[in-house]
Amino acid sequence: MDKIVDFINVNRDRYVSELKDYLAIPSISALPQHAGDVRQCAEWTAAHMRGIGLNDVQVFETRGNPIVYGEWLGAEGAPTILFYGHYDVQPVDPVHLWTSPPFEATVRDGELYARGSADDKGQVFMHFKAIEAHMKQHGRLPVNMKVLIEGEEEVGSGNLDDFVREHRDRLKADVVVISDSPMFDRGVPSICYGLRGLAYFQIDVRGTKSDLHSGSFGGAVANPAFVLASILAQMKDKSGRIKIPGYYDDVVELREEERQEFAKLPFNERKYRQDLGAPKLHGEPGYTTLERIWARPTFEVNGLLSGFTGEGAKTVIPAVAMAKVSMRLVPNQDPKKVGDLFEDYLKKVAPKSVEVTLTRMHGGKPWMTAFDNPYVQAAGRAIERGFGQKPVFNREGGSIPVVSTFSDELGIPCVLFGVGLPDQNAHAPDEKLDLGNFHNGVIASAYLYDEISRG
Ligand code: BES
Ligand code: MN
Ligand code: MN
Repeated sequence: MDKIVDFINVNRDRYVSELKDYLAIPSISALPQHAGDVRQCAEWTAAHMRGIGLNDVQVFETRGNPIVYGEWLGAEGAPTILFYGHYDVQPVDPVHLWTSPPFEATVRDGELYARGSADDKGQVFMHFKAIEAHMKQHGRLPVNMKVLIEGEEEVGSGNLDDFVREHRDRLKADVVVISDSPMFDRGVPSICYGLRGLAYFQIDVRGTKSDLHSGSFGGAVANPAFVLASILAQMKDKSGRIKIPGYYDDVVELREEERQEFAKLPFNERKYRQDLGAPKLHGEPGYTTLERIWARPTFEVNGLLSGFTGEGAKTVIPAVAMAKVSMRLVPNQDPKKVGDLFEDYLKKVAPKSVEVTLTRMHGGKPWMTAFDNPYVQAAGRAIERGFGQKPVFNREGGSIPVVSTFSDELGIPCVLFGVGLPDQNAHAPDEKLDLGNFHNGVIASAYLYDEISRG
Protein backbone atom coordinates (compact mmCIF):
# COMPACT_ATOMS: atom_id res chain seq x y z
CA MET A 1 0.00 0.00 0.00
CA ASP A 2 2.94 2.38 0.47
CA LYS A 3 3.39 2.83 -3.27
CA ILE A 4 -0.29 3.66 -3.59
CA VAL A 5 -0.28 6.19 -0.78
CA ASP A 6 2.84 7.84 -2.27
CA PHE A 7 1.07 8.12 -5.61
CA ILE A 8 -1.96 9.72 -3.95
CA ASN A 9 0.21 12.20 -2.07
CA VAL A 10 2.12 13.19 -5.19
CA ASN A 11 -1.02 13.66 -7.28
CA ARG A 12 -2.97 15.75 -4.81
CA ASP A 13 -3.03 18.92 -6.93
CA ARG A 14 -3.91 17.12 -10.14
CA TYR A 15 -6.93 15.57 -8.39
CA VAL A 16 -8.26 18.98 -7.46
CA SER A 17 -7.83 20.39 -10.94
CA GLU A 18 -9.58 17.38 -12.53
CA LEU A 19 -12.37 17.57 -10.00
CA LYS A 20 -12.87 21.23 -10.91
CA ASP A 21 -13.59 20.14 -14.49
CA TYR A 22 -16.17 17.63 -13.25
CA LEU A 23 -17.79 20.30 -11.07
CA ALA A 24 -17.97 22.75 -13.98
CA ILE A 25 -20.76 20.72 -15.60
CA PRO A 26 -24.14 22.00 -14.31
CA SER A 27 -25.78 18.56 -14.09
CA ILE A 28 -28.92 19.76 -12.33
CA SER A 29 -31.41 16.90 -12.58
CA ALA A 30 -34.40 18.89 -11.34
CA LEU A 31 -34.37 21.43 -14.17
CA PRO A 32 -35.36 20.35 -17.71
CA GLN A 33 -33.25 23.08 -19.29
CA HIS A 34 -30.15 21.29 -17.97
CA ALA A 35 -30.94 17.95 -19.66
CA GLY A 36 -28.04 18.51 -22.09
CA ASP A 37 -25.62 19.21 -19.23
CA VAL A 38 -26.81 16.13 -17.38
CA ARG A 39 -26.10 14.03 -20.45
CA GLN A 40 -22.70 15.63 -20.93
CA CYS A 41 -21.92 14.89 -17.29
CA ALA A 42 -22.82 11.22 -17.79
CA GLU A 43 -20.41 11.14 -20.74
CA TRP A 44 -17.70 12.87 -18.70
CA THR A 45 -18.20 10.32 -15.92
CA ALA A 46 -17.97 7.45 -18.40
CA ALA A 47 -14.85 8.84 -20.08
CA HIS A 48 -13.19 9.31 -16.72
CA MET A 49 -14.08 5.80 -15.64
CA ARG A 50 -12.45 4.46 -18.81
CA GLY A 51 -9.41 6.63 -18.12
CA ILE A 52 -8.81 5.18 -14.65
CA GLY A 53 -8.84 1.65 -16.03
CA LEU A 54 -12.40 0.39 -15.65
CA ASN A 55 -13.65 -1.91 -18.42
CA ASP A 56 -16.87 -2.16 -20.38
CA VAL A 57 -17.93 1.33 -19.35
CA GLN A 58 -21.40 1.99 -20.68
CA VAL A 59 -23.90 4.81 -20.56
CA PHE A 60 -27.30 3.21 -20.15
CA GLU A 61 -30.35 5.09 -21.30
CA THR A 62 -33.35 5.16 -18.98
CA ARG A 63 -36.69 6.91 -19.22
CA GLY A 64 -34.91 9.73 -17.41
CA ASN A 65 -31.22 10.51 -17.08
CA PRO A 66 -28.49 8.07 -18.13
CA ILE A 67 -26.89 5.62 -15.72
CA VAL A 68 -23.15 5.08 -16.04
CA TYR A 69 -21.74 1.65 -15.33
CA GLY A 70 -18.25 0.18 -15.54
CA GLU A 71 -16.35 -2.67 -13.94
CA TRP A 72 -13.01 -4.31 -13.33
CA LEU A 73 -13.33 -8.00 -12.66
CA GLY A 74 -9.76 -9.24 -12.72
CA ALA A 75 -9.39 -10.25 -9.07
CA GLU A 76 -10.38 -13.87 -9.29
CA GLY A 77 -11.62 -15.30 -6.03
CA ALA A 78 -11.60 -11.91 -4.30
CA PRO A 79 -14.77 -10.16 -3.08
CA THR A 80 -16.72 -7.84 -5.36
CA ILE A 81 -17.58 -4.25 -4.41
CA LEU A 82 -20.52 -2.44 -5.97
CA PHE A 83 -19.73 1.26 -5.67
CA TYR A 84 -22.71 3.60 -6.03
CA GLY A 85 -22.83 7.37 -6.35
CA HIS A 86 -24.62 10.13 -8.26
CA TYR A 87 -23.38 12.69 -10.79
CA ASP A 88 -26.49 14.87 -10.68
CA VAL A 89 -26.67 17.93 -8.44
CA GLN A 90 -29.27 20.18 -6.87
CA PRO A 91 -30.32 23.56 -8.31
CA VAL A 92 -28.21 26.54 -7.23
CA ASP A 93 -30.76 29.22 -6.42
CA PRO A 94 -30.64 31.66 -4.70
CA VAL A 95 -27.54 32.11 -6.82
CA HIS A 96 -26.73 35.62 -5.53
CA LEU A 97 -25.90 34.12 -2.12
CA TRP A 98 -22.91 32.21 -3.52
CA THR A 99 -19.53 33.77 -2.74
CA SER A 100 -18.09 32.36 -6.00
CA PRO A 101 -20.05 31.02 -8.99
CA PRO A 102 -21.48 27.53 -8.23
CA PHE A 103 -19.99 25.93 -11.35
CA GLU A 104 -16.57 27.56 -11.10
CA ALA A 105 -15.03 25.51 -8.32
CA THR A 106 -12.91 27.74 -6.11
CA VAL A 107 -10.56 26.90 -3.23
CA ARG A 108 -10.79 29.06 -0.11
CA ASP A 109 -9.23 28.11 3.24
CA GLY A 110 -8.70 24.50 2.26
CA GLU A 111 -12.28 24.02 1.08
CA LEU A 112 -13.41 23.51 -2.49
CA TYR A 113 -16.58 25.53 -3.12
CA ALA A 114 -18.94 24.38 -5.89
CA ARG A 115 -22.33 22.77 -6.39
CA GLY A 116 -21.72 19.03 -6.19
CA SER A 117 -18.36 19.30 -4.41
CA ALA A 118 -19.64 17.28 -1.45
CA ASP A 119 -22.95 15.99 -2.83
CA ASP A 120 -21.84 13.90 -4.55
CA LYS A 121 -19.33 14.43 -7.37
CA GLY A 122 -16.40 15.09 -5.02
CA GLN A 123 -17.03 11.91 -3.07
CA VAL A 124 -17.51 9.86 -6.25
CA PHE A 125 -14.28 11.33 -7.57
CA MET A 126 -12.48 10.31 -4.38
CA HIS A 127 -13.17 6.66 -5.26
CA PHE A 128 -12.21 7.21 -8.90
CA LYS A 129 -8.82 8.43 -7.71
CA ALA A 130 -8.43 5.53 -5.27
CA ILE A 131 -9.16 3.09 -8.11
CA GLU A 132 -6.75 4.94 -10.38
CA ALA A 133 -3.97 4.82 -7.77
CA HIS A 134 -4.26 1.02 -7.50
CA MET A 135 -4.37 0.61 -11.27
CA LYS A 136 -1.44 2.95 -11.94
CA GLN A 137 0.82 1.42 -9.31
CA HIS A 138 -0.07 -2.26 -9.56
CA GLY A 139 -1.99 -2.60 -12.80
CA ARG A 140 -4.83 -4.19 -10.87
CA LEU A 141 -7.28 -3.84 -8.00
CA PRO A 142 -7.22 -6.14 -4.98
CA VAL A 143 -11.00 -6.65 -5.36
CA ASN A 144 -13.48 -6.86 -8.20
CA MET A 145 -15.14 -3.51 -8.71
CA LYS A 146 -18.49 -2.60 -10.20
CA VAL A 147 -19.19 1.12 -10.43
CA LEU A 148 -22.72 2.48 -10.81
CA ILE A 149 -23.19 6.25 -11.04
CA GLU A 150 -26.68 7.58 -11.59
CA GLY A 151 -28.07 10.95 -12.62
CA GLU A 152 -31.40 11.13 -10.82
CA GLU A 153 -30.64 10.77 -7.12
CA GLU A 154 -31.57 14.35 -6.36
CA VAL A 155 -34.99 13.83 -7.92
CA GLY A 156 -35.79 10.54 -6.24
CA SER A 157 -33.96 7.89 -8.33
CA GLY A 158 -37.19 7.15 -10.20
CA ASN A 159 -35.63 4.86 -12.80
CA LEU A 160 -32.94 3.19 -10.74
CA ASP A 161 -34.99 0.51 -8.99
CA ASP A 162 -36.03 -0.94 -12.37
CA PHE A 163 -32.42 -0.79 -13.56
CA VAL A 164 -31.23 -2.68 -10.47
CA ARG A 165 -33.90 -5.33 -10.96
CA GLU A 166 -33.21 -5.69 -14.69
CA HIS A 167 -29.46 -5.91 -14.16
CA ARG A 168 -29.50 -7.95 -10.99
CA ASP A 169 -26.92 -10.43 -12.34
CA ARG A 170 -24.59 -7.78 -13.67
CA LEU A 171 -24.70 -5.98 -10.31
CA LYS A 172 -24.13 -9.10 -8.20
CA ALA A 173 -21.58 -8.23 -5.53
CA ASP A 174 -20.58 -8.95 -1.94
CA VAL A 175 -20.94 -5.45 -0.57
CA VAL A 176 -22.20 -2.02 -1.65
CA VAL A 177 -19.97 0.97 -0.88
CA ILE A 178 -21.39 4.50 -0.90
CA SER A 179 -19.78 7.85 -0.09
CA ASP A 180 -22.66 10.32 -0.14
CA SER A 181 -23.03 11.49 3.44
CA PRO A 182 -21.32 13.82 5.87
CA MET A 183 -19.07 12.46 8.60
CA PHE A 184 -20.24 13.01 12.15
CA ASP A 185 -18.13 16.12 12.67
CA ARG A 186 -14.87 17.71 11.63
CA GLY A 187 -12.17 15.36 12.92
CA VAL A 188 -14.75 12.68 13.74
CA PRO A 189 -14.92 10.21 10.83
CA SER A 190 -17.95 7.95 10.88
CA ILE A 191 -19.71 5.02 9.32
CA CYS A 192 -23.41 5.56 8.76
CA TYR A 193 -25.70 2.61 9.51
CA GLY A 194 -29.12 4.20 9.02
CA LEU A 195 -30.90 6.65 6.71
CA ARG A 196 -34.40 8.06 6.87
CA GLY A 197 -36.83 7.48 4.04
CA LEU A 198 -38.90 10.10 2.28
CA ALA A 199 -42.38 10.70 0.95
CA TYR A 200 -42.83 13.94 -1.03
CA PHE A 201 -46.09 15.59 -2.14
CA GLN A 202 -47.60 18.67 -3.69
CA ILE A 203 -50.94 19.98 -2.44
CA ASP A 204 -52.93 22.23 -4.77
CA VAL A 205 -55.95 24.15 -3.52
CA ARG A 206 -58.28 25.90 -5.94
CA GLY A 207 -61.06 28.24 -4.79
CA THR A 208 -62.33 30.01 -7.89
CA LYS A 209 -61.76 30.32 -11.65
CA SER A 210 -59.53 33.36 -11.24
CA ASP A 211 -58.23 35.82 -8.63
CA LEU A 212 -60.99 38.01 -7.19
CA HIS A 213 -61.34 41.57 -5.90
CA SER A 214 -61.25 41.02 -2.16
CA GLY A 215 -63.76 43.83 -1.61
CA SER A 216 -66.32 42.73 -4.15
CA PHE A 217 -66.11 39.05 -3.25
CA GLY A 218 -64.38 38.81 0.13
CA GLY A 219 -66.66 37.04 2.61
CA ALA A 220 -68.58 35.09 -0.03
CA VAL A 221 -65.99 32.47 -0.96
CA ALA A 222 -63.29 30.49 0.79
CA ASN A 223 -59.76 31.83 0.55
CA PRO A 224 -57.43 29.06 -0.75
CA ALA A 225 -54.38 30.49 1.03
CA PHE A 226 -56.25 30.46 4.31
CA VAL A 227 -57.69 27.00 3.69
CA LEU A 228 -54.24 25.63 2.86
CA ALA A 229 -52.79 27.16 6.02
CA SER A 230 -55.51 25.59 8.13
CA ILE A 231 -55.09 22.22 6.41
CA LEU A 232 -51.36 22.33 7.17
CA ALA A 233 -52.06 23.42 10.73
CA GLN A 234 -54.10 20.27 11.24
CA MET A 235 -51.16 17.99 10.40
CA LYS A 236 -49.56 18.43 13.83
CA ASP A 237 -50.80 19.02 17.35
CA LYS A 238 -49.33 21.66 19.68
CA SER A 239 -46.53 19.39 20.85
CA GLY A 240 -45.51 18.68 17.26
CA ARG A 241 -46.92 15.16 17.11
CA ILE A 242 -48.13 14.29 13.61
CA LYS A 243 -51.92 13.84 13.58
CA ILE A 244 -52.27 11.69 10.45
CA PRO A 245 -54.11 8.63 11.81
CA GLY A 246 -51.88 5.56 11.76
CA TYR A 247 -48.75 7.58 10.96
CA TYR A 248 -46.74 6.14 13.84
CA ASP A 249 -48.07 2.59 13.64
CA ASP A 250 -44.98 1.11 11.95
CA VAL A 251 -42.38 3.27 13.67
CA VAL A 252 -39.79 1.16 15.46
CA GLU A 253 -39.01 2.76 18.80
CA LEU A 254 -35.40 3.49 19.65
CA ARG A 255 -33.77 0.81 21.76
CA GLU A 256 -32.31 1.95 25.05
CA GLU A 257 -28.81 0.78 24.07
CA GLU A 258 -28.95 2.80 20.88
CA ARG A 259 -30.02 5.90 22.77
CA GLN A 260 -27.04 5.42 25.04
CA GLU A 261 -24.71 5.14 22.04
CA PHE A 262 -26.13 8.36 20.55
CA ALA A 263 -25.61 10.09 23.88
CA LYS A 264 -21.92 9.15 23.92
CA LEU A 265 -21.21 10.93 20.62
CA PRO A 266 -19.35 14.24 20.84
CA PHE A 267 -22.37 16.44 20.17
CA ASN A 268 -22.65 19.98 21.48
CA GLU A 269 -26.26 21.11 21.33
CA ARG A 270 -25.46 24.74 22.04
CA LYS A 271 -22.90 24.94 19.24
CA TYR A 272 -25.32 23.14 16.95
CA ARG A 273 -28.00 25.73 17.63
CA GLN A 274 -25.59 28.62 17.21
CA ASP A 275 -24.18 27.24 13.94
CA LEU A 276 -27.72 27.04 12.58
CA GLY A 277 -28.52 30.54 13.76
CA ALA A 278 -31.72 29.30 15.41
CA PRO A 279 -33.07 31.27 18.40
CA LYS A 280 -34.09 27.97 20.02
CA LEU A 281 -34.16 24.34 18.93
CA HIS A 282 -37.57 22.80 18.43
CA GLY A 283 -38.72 19.22 18.06
CA GLU A 284 -40.63 16.23 19.35
CA PRO A 285 -40.77 16.18 23.17
CA GLY A 286 -39.00 13.29 24.86
CA TYR A 287 -36.24 12.94 22.26
CA THR A 288 -32.77 14.46 21.98
CA THR A 289 -31.71 16.36 18.87
CA LEU A 290 -29.79 13.42 17.42
CA GLU A 291 -32.73 11.12 18.11
CA ARG A 292 -35.07 13.57 16.41
CA ILE A 293 -33.07 13.79 13.21
CA TRP A 294 -31.92 10.18 12.96
CA ALA A 295 -34.67 8.05 14.40
CA ARG A 296 -37.96 9.97 14.41
CA PRO A 297 -40.26 10.70 11.46
CA THR A 298 -41.22 14.23 10.47
CA PHE A 299 -43.77 16.24 8.52
CA GLU A 300 -42.32 19.33 6.88
CA VAL A 301 -43.58 22.11 4.65
CA ASN A 302 -40.91 22.60 2.00
CA GLY A 303 -42.55 25.46 0.18
CA LEU A 304 -45.69 27.59 0.05
CA LEU A 305 -47.09 29.70 -2.75
CA SER A 306 -50.21 31.81 -3.00
CA GLY A 307 -51.55 35.22 -3.81
CA PHE A 308 -49.77 38.52 -3.95
CA THR A 309 -46.24 38.53 -2.58
CA GLY A 310 -44.75 41.51 -4.39
CA GLU A 311 -43.94 44.93 -3.01
CA GLY A 312 -46.82 47.04 -1.76
CA ALA A 313 -50.37 45.86 -1.21
CA LYS A 314 -52.91 44.30 -3.52
CA THR A 315 -56.44 43.54 -2.41
CA VAL A 316 -57.01 40.15 -3.90
CA ILE A 317 -58.40 36.73 -3.03
CA PRO A 318 -56.05 34.26 -4.71
CA ALA A 319 -57.65 31.63 -6.92
CA VAL A 320 -55.11 29.00 -5.90
CA ALA A 321 -52.64 28.03 -3.21
CA MET A 322 -49.92 25.44 -3.36
CA ALA A 323 -47.68 23.67 -0.86
CA LYS A 324 -44.84 21.21 -1.21
CA VAL A 325 -44.73 18.93 1.79
CA SER A 326 -42.63 15.93 2.70
CA MET A 327 -42.17 13.42 5.44
CA ARG A 328 -38.94 11.83 6.57
CA LEU A 329 -39.62 8.23 7.46
CA VAL A 330 -37.94 5.80 9.82
CA PRO A 331 -37.95 2.00 10.00
CA ASN A 332 -40.43 0.34 9.30
CA GLN A 333 -42.57 3.07 7.74
CA ASP A 334 -43.36 2.61 4.07
CA PRO A 335 -43.67 5.65 1.76
CA LYS A 336 -46.59 4.18 -0.17
CA LYS A 337 -48.54 3.31 2.95
CA VAL A 338 -47.81 6.66 4.57
CA GLY A 339 -48.95 8.34 1.34
CA ASP A 340 -52.29 6.51 1.55
CA LEU A 341 -52.78 7.53 5.18
CA PHE A 342 -51.95 11.14 4.33
CA GLU A 343 -54.33 11.20 1.37
CA ASP A 344 -57.20 9.85 3.50
CA TYR A 345 -56.58 12.40 6.23
CA LEU A 346 -56.22 15.24 3.73
CA LYS A 347 -59.62 14.36 2.22
CA LYS A 348 -61.09 14.37 5.69
CA VAL A 349 -59.78 17.77 6.73
CA ALA A 350 -60.29 19.57 3.38
CA PRO A 351 -63.46 21.72 3.34
CA LYS A 352 -66.00 21.39 0.54
CA SER A 353 -65.57 25.07 -0.35
CA VAL A 354 -62.36 24.39 -2.31
CA GLU A 355 -60.93 21.77 -4.64
CA VAL A 356 -57.89 20.00 -3.20
CA THR A 357 -55.53 17.89 -5.31
CA LEU A 358 -52.72 15.79 -3.94
CA THR A 359 -49.83 14.84 -6.21
CA ARG A 360 -47.43 12.16 -5.04
CA MET A 361 -43.89 13.00 -5.98
CA HIS A 362 -40.84 10.94 -5.15
CA GLY A 363 -40.15 8.75 -2.17
CA GLY A 364 -37.78 6.24 -0.72
CA LYS A 365 -37.77 3.71 2.06
CA PRO A 366 -35.84 4.17 5.29
CA TRP A 367 -32.80 1.95 5.78
CA MET A 368 -30.95 0.60 8.76
CA THR A 369 -28.39 -2.15 9.05
CA ALA A 370 -26.42 -4.07 11.62
CA PHE A 371 -22.79 -3.04 11.67
CA ASP A 372 -21.20 -6.21 12.95
CA ASN A 373 -20.34 -7.53 9.48
CA PRO A 374 -16.74 -7.95 8.21
CA TYR A 375 -17.15 -5.22 5.57
CA VAL A 376 -17.94 -2.61 8.17
CA GLN A 377 -14.97 -3.81 10.20
CA ALA A 378 -12.80 -3.47 7.05
CA ALA A 379 -14.13 0.05 6.49
CA GLY A 380 -13.30 0.91 10.09
CA ARG A 381 -9.67 -0.12 9.58
CA ALA A 382 -9.46 1.74 6.26
CA ILE A 383 -10.82 4.95 7.75
CA GLU A 384 -8.32 4.68 10.57
CA ARG A 385 -5.56 4.45 7.96
CA GLY A 386 -6.81 7.50 6.07
CA PHE A 387 -7.85 9.71 8.98
CA GLY A 388 -5.61 8.46 11.79
CA GLN A 389 -8.67 7.82 13.88
CA LYS A 390 -11.27 5.10 14.43
CA PRO A 391 -14.72 6.00 13.07
CA VAL A 392 -17.81 6.41 15.21
CA PHE A 393 -21.12 4.87 14.14
CA ASN A 394 -23.98 7.18 13.34
CA ARG A 395 -27.32 7.36 11.59
CA GLU A 396 -28.33 10.18 9.26
CA GLY A 397 -31.51 12.11 8.69
CA GLY A 398 -31.12 12.30 4.89
CA SER A 399 -32.24 9.77 2.32
CA ILE A 400 -30.64 7.78 -0.49
CA PRO A 401 -33.58 5.96 -2.07
CA VAL A 402 -31.63 3.15 -3.73
CA VAL A 403 -29.97 1.91 -0.54
CA SER A 404 -33.01 -0.05 0.61
CA THR A 405 -33.37 -1.38 -2.95
CA PHE A 406 -29.81 -2.70 -2.83
CA SER A 407 -30.56 -4.41 0.48
CA ASP A 408 -33.88 -5.85 -0.70
CA GLU A 409 -32.98 -6.82 -4.27
CA LEU A 410 -29.34 -7.80 -3.96
CA GLY A 411 -29.44 -8.97 -0.35
CA ILE A 412 -25.97 -7.66 0.46
CA PRO A 413 -24.66 -5.27 3.11
CA CYS A 414 -24.10 -1.57 2.41
CA VAL A 415 -21.21 0.41 3.87
CA LEU A 416 -21.79 4.16 3.98
CA PHE A 417 -18.52 5.96 4.47
CA GLY A 418 -18.83 9.68 3.76
CA VAL A 419 -16.20 12.40 4.01
CA GLY A 420 -18.50 15.42 3.88
CA LEU A 421 -19.08 17.60 6.93
CA PRO A 422 -22.25 18.76 8.67
CA ASP A 423 -21.52 22.35 7.56
CA GLN A 424 -20.88 21.42 3.91
CA ASN A 425 -23.94 23.42 2.76
CA ALA A 426 -25.33 20.59 0.66
CA HIS A 427 -28.35 21.77 -1.41
CA ALA A 428 -27.58 25.35 -0.26
CA PRO A 429 -25.41 28.25 -1.41
CA ASP A 430 -21.64 27.84 -0.91
CA GLU A 431 -21.62 24.04 -0.95
CA LYS A 432 -18.09 22.96 -0.12
CA LEU A 433 -15.79 20.00 0.34
CA ASP A 434 -12.94 20.01 2.81
CA LEU A 435 -9.85 19.15 0.75
CA GLY A 436 -8.10 17.55 3.71
CA ASN A 437 -11.02 15.18 4.10
CA PHE A 438 -11.03 14.56 0.37
CA HIS A 439 -7.35 13.68 0.40
CA ASN A 440 -7.64 11.44 3.46
CA GLY A 441 -10.73 9.96 1.86
CA VAL A 442 -8.83 8.94 -1.28
CA ILE A 443 -6.29 7.16 0.94
CA ALA A 444 -9.01 5.56 3.07
CA SER A 445 -10.85 4.39 -0.07
CA ALA A 446 -7.67 2.86 -1.48
CA TYR A 447 -7.19 1.05 1.84
CA LEU A 448 -10.84 0.04 1.89
CA TYR A 449 -10.46 -2.06 -1.25
CA ASP A 450 -7.33 -3.61 0.20
CA GLU A 451 -8.97 -4.33 3.56
CA ILE A 452 -12.04 -5.81 1.93
CA SER A 453 -9.83 -8.08 -0.19
CA ARG A 454 -8.36 -9.50 3.01
CA GLY A 455 -11.82 -10.21 4.41
N1 BES B 1 -26.43 12.80 -0.17
C1 BES B 1 -27.79 13.04 0.13
C2 BES B 1 -28.34 12.12 1.18
C3 BES B 1 -27.88 12.38 2.58
C4 BES B 1 -28.06 13.64 3.13
C5 BES B 1 -27.36 11.37 3.33
C6 BES B 1 -27.66 13.87 4.43
C7 BES B 1 -26.98 11.58 4.60
C8 BES B 1 -27.13 12.84 5.16
C9 BES B 1 -28.63 12.88 -1.15
O1 BES B 1 -28.02 13.43 -2.28
C10 BES B 1 -29.93 13.61 -0.99
O2 BES B 1 -29.93 14.80 -0.93
N2 BES B 1 -31.02 12.87 -0.97
C11 BES B 1 -32.31 13.43 -1.02
C12 BES B 1 -33.20 12.32 -1.50
C13 BES B 1 -34.45 12.75 -2.16
C14 BES B 1 -34.27 13.76 -3.25
C15 BES B 1 -35.21 11.55 -2.66
C16 BES B 1 -32.75 13.91 0.34
O3 BES B 1 -32.36 13.33 1.37
O4 BES B 1 -33.48 14.90 0.39
MN1 MN C 1 -26.07 12.87 -2.41
MN1 MN D 1 -28.38 15.63 -2.22
